[in-house]
Amino acid sequence: MKDIKTISCIGAGYVGGPTMAVIALKNPHIRVNVVDINEEKIRLWNSDNLDELPVYEPGLADIVKKVRNKNLFFHTDINQAIEDAEMIFISVNTPTKTYGVGKGMAADLKYVELCARQIADVAKTDKIVVEKSTLPVRTASSIKRILAEQNKGLTYSVLSNPEFLAEGTAIKDLLEADRVLIGGEESENGQKAIEALVKIYEAWLPRERILTTNVWSSELSKLTANAFLAQRISSINAISVLCEKTGADVDEVARAIGSDSRIGPKFLKASVGFGGSCFQKDILNLVYLNRFYGLNEAADYWEQVIIMNDYQKHRFAANMVSSMFNTVSGKKIVFYGWAFKKDTNDTRESAAIYIADQLIDEQAEIHVYDPKVSHRRMQQDLYDLNTRPEAENDQYLHFEKDPYEAIRGAHAVAVITEWDVFKSLDWQKIYKAMKKPAFIFDGRNILDHEALREIGFEVTAIGKKKV
Ligand code: UDX
Ligand code: ADP
Repeated sequence: MKDIKTISCIGAGYVGGPTMAVIALKNPHIRVNVVDINEEKIRLWNSDNLDELPVYEPGLADIVKKVRNKNLFFHTDINQAIEDAEMIFISVNTPTKTYGVGKGMAADLKYVELCARQIADVAKTDKIVVEKSTLPVRTASSIKRILAEQNKGLTYSVLSNPEFLAEGTAIKDLLEADRVLIGGEESENGQKAIEALVKIYEAWLPRERILTTNVWSSELSKLTANAFLAQRISSINAISVLCEKTGADVDEVARAIGSDSRIGPKFLKASVGFGGSCFQKDILNLVYLNRFYGLNEAADYWEQVIIMNDYQKHRFAANMVSSMFNTVSGKKIVFYGWAFKKDTNDTRESAAIYIADQLIDEQAEIHVYDPKVSHRRMQQDLYDLNTRPEAENDQYLHFEKDPYEAIRGAHAVAVITEWDVFKSLDWQKIYKAMKKPAFIFDGRNILDHEALREIGFEVTAIGKKKV
């Protein structure tokens, strides 16, 4: 296999954008095209104002500034990008299906399939196709079949190269990856394709961190990794409920069990519920796969992780209502944070959306301050739930630009996202501006609850008994 000179990536989203920026940075001799059907998104990737990049990730703008229009190019000419490249990454979205067979469970592969068909139509030379989107097991073989149908005498190799980056730390995760996983076919061609991709990652990672497997193992490993991580969160959240009843402190329990090196300290932070584009989708996928094969006990086991997460979001909102004398109708409730975690502008599956929806059912006035999320995004998130007419959502959801302005005359504040900035707010000032009793619901346990109680707040926190 000759060295790769041009790579193209279809899909300029949270995965494609940062991953290609790092590949371009570390492989200056390779031309990297990132293409997308969304013209506005590409315009923003090319914007001179780096604050406008469609993905916010610490460190990303600096890299884009260094390599954009040198060896990293964002554009919408997908056909050209396919023609030019020896290696094509598919990084399009694979949301949970909202229709038909597998509705609400299986991944919707229509965008991936469209890409495969477009590659098959346009390609004039051999291609290595790399699946980067999270996909159910056996997708690579479907891609391969679609490519082979055209029978142009070209050789296609399909690799699975799942992405393990977490949002908010994407650049660090890419630069210092624990491991890179590349699944390929055992044929000679498959092995050559694997080596070509290994070489790209070897530009900055030691060879022993690049694991190669067969395609199925690689695909299933991605789902399994996310299922295990999400399961830890649901496990600690399940314990948080019991803590609230008994007086054990969930953070102390997490510290105690996390000190056992077999368990380890990460992903044990009790919270208002996990969000993000991956965990729920991947677990639902796993559940669907198990059900498909008639493995109902295994399916039920994984499904429980989602059930627990839904319960955590639901009971947080229900707790707010019951603490505030069983009515929040007409009350101003401030949300600190809307993103699904700190340091990202991504809101997919954020607990904030579901909590807001439940409180709007109770006719609460929701005022949201988030350092990175736009008003438009918040509105759209609620519209997408489809629970009530859009105008009615707009009537209850208010966008705030400043955390102190937001709080004036509020009955309660709920910390939904663990943005660092919330830890250093002037809580005395906030207390003064609020109606009394002033309630705080700390959905992330990032605040100093003792100090807040001394100021006069009524504090409710995840996994802590009410005092
Ligand atoms: C996840 C995986 O970590 C990553 O490897 C994969 O590629 C994509 O899915 P991401 O969804 O970006 O990444 O963020 P992650 O840091 O995993 O957080 C997911 C959710 O879990 C967030 O809502 C976060 O706030 C929550 N979380 C995380 C907790 O509630 N408690 C924890 O201890 C850790
Ligand atoms: P992820 O988190 O997986 O990166 P995103 O939704 O952020 O998901 O990004 C996926 C991107 O893929 C979107 O910008 C979308 O416009 C793009 N996309 C989807 N289908 C196609 C397609 N057929 N051709 C080009 N781009 C596509």
